Amino acid sequence: MMLIQDLIRKKRDKKRLTSDEIKWFVQELCKNEVEPAQTGAFLMAAWINGLSELEKINFTNAMKNSGTVLKWKLNGPIVDKHSTGGVGDTVSLILAPLMASLGCFVPMISGKGLGHTGGTLDKLSSIPGYKVEQSETSFQKIVSRVGCAIVGQTSKLVPADKILYAIRDVTSTVDSVDLITASIISKKLASGINNLILDVKVGRGALMTNVTRAKKLAKSLVSVANASNCKTRALITNMDDPLSSAIGNALEVETVVDVLLGKNKNEKALLDTTIALSIELYSMVYPAKSKTEIQKKVHSLLDSGHVAERFENMVSALGGPKDFLSTYKKVLPKTKYVIPIRAKKDGYITQIDTKALGNILLKIGGGRQKASDNLNLSVGFTKVVKSNKRVDANEALLMLHYPDKCLSSSLEEEINNCFTISGRDPAQPINPILQKID
Ligand code: URA
Repeated sequence: MMLIQDLIRKKRDKKRLTSDEIKWFVQELCKNEVEPAQTGAFLMAAWINGLSELEKINFTNAMKNSGTVLKWKLNGPIVDKHSTGGVGDTVSLILAPLMASLGCFVPMISGKGLGHTGGTLDKLSSIPGYKVEQSETSFQKIVSRVGCAIVGQTSKLVPADKILYAIRDVTSTVDSVDLITASIISKKLASGINNLILDVKVGRGALMTNVTRAKKLAKSLVSVANASNCKTRALITNMDDPLSSAIGNALEVETVVDVLLGKNKNEKALLDTTIALSIELYSMVYPAKSKTEIQKKVHSLLDSGHVAERFENMVSALGGPKDFLSTYKKVLPKTKYVIPIRAKKDGYITQIDTKALGNILLKIGGGRQKASDNLNLSVGFTKVVKSNKRVDANEALLMLHYPDKCLSSSLEEEINNCFTISGRDPAQPINPILQKID
């Protein structure tokens, strides 16, 4: 007979757990047969001593099998993208309809934002009527009809992750590459996809602030997913600056639609990152196609408005307006006031504290500190200046979308402090794509 304490001891003593032991642990966990103290001890032992590659694969698959595993009957490749989280990151909102326009099926299960990084579901929730919670049947129908759907996770998918994550959160065991890998990949495998592109972000606005750690995470995610029959690659992408000039839920959606309609040509980092991830994903599915050919096709789908239309179809299928492309400016929630925050001196923007900017959004109601917090979907920033730009004293660093006419001087100061302005010449421009891991 197995005992939980024996498994904890084994992991504590740096021994390897067998596949059966891992499966049993996860099953017992989901039957509520493991005391929270035991789960915490197990997680800490795993955090300290790590999991071997085989343990990681077994743990990921045991977690995947702890709930429903979606099965798709679709006439085309089933693809998905996952990002480790950033600020102003609306890649999914463009990539999903773009991949669908390329003939792939994209059943994207996304999360809410927590902490300084935004969540795709919160952004989409700002669209009146859009229902992120869908039954499995309607999710299946919409993906099959429209080609893509971005929805929230149901409690039936990987229940083990919910239990483990809650305990990781209070035992300082979230930041383990092995545990993050099992958590992310188990959920992707349970959604039934077989091709995955990972956007591992690195920089001042990312969870991983240095390339070495980002690379370690990317390699771990890619190898576990590939070993579990899901073709996977990763790009390590830059998150020093916010990815788009808008930060805030409804404001980011509005900017995406502007970009899709060709009305905003200034979102180069967002488009470059989205296109690079889409090309990598498509070329993984169709290795015989040349990247130049794929790139041409991607640009023509974006420029012709096909991707915009696909986005509108998805929004409508999920309960949003049928004519979102012509009504979005009117129907997205807005704050009463838009206030410029001005530079205090002349010079070049040499650094943006993107994480601090994400945290200010959270403080003014656009993000959550705890899972139960309600959001103000209309607050945020637009026209955020980019690194290396020259600004004059009194020029706007950004426009603050805010519910009150007056803002405290401390909030203005806090926003100003996110921008370092110096007299020196600008540094090299930021390259959005840093490395590929496959
Ligand atoms: N995102 C997840 O889904 N799980 C983690 O452990 C970390 C980030």
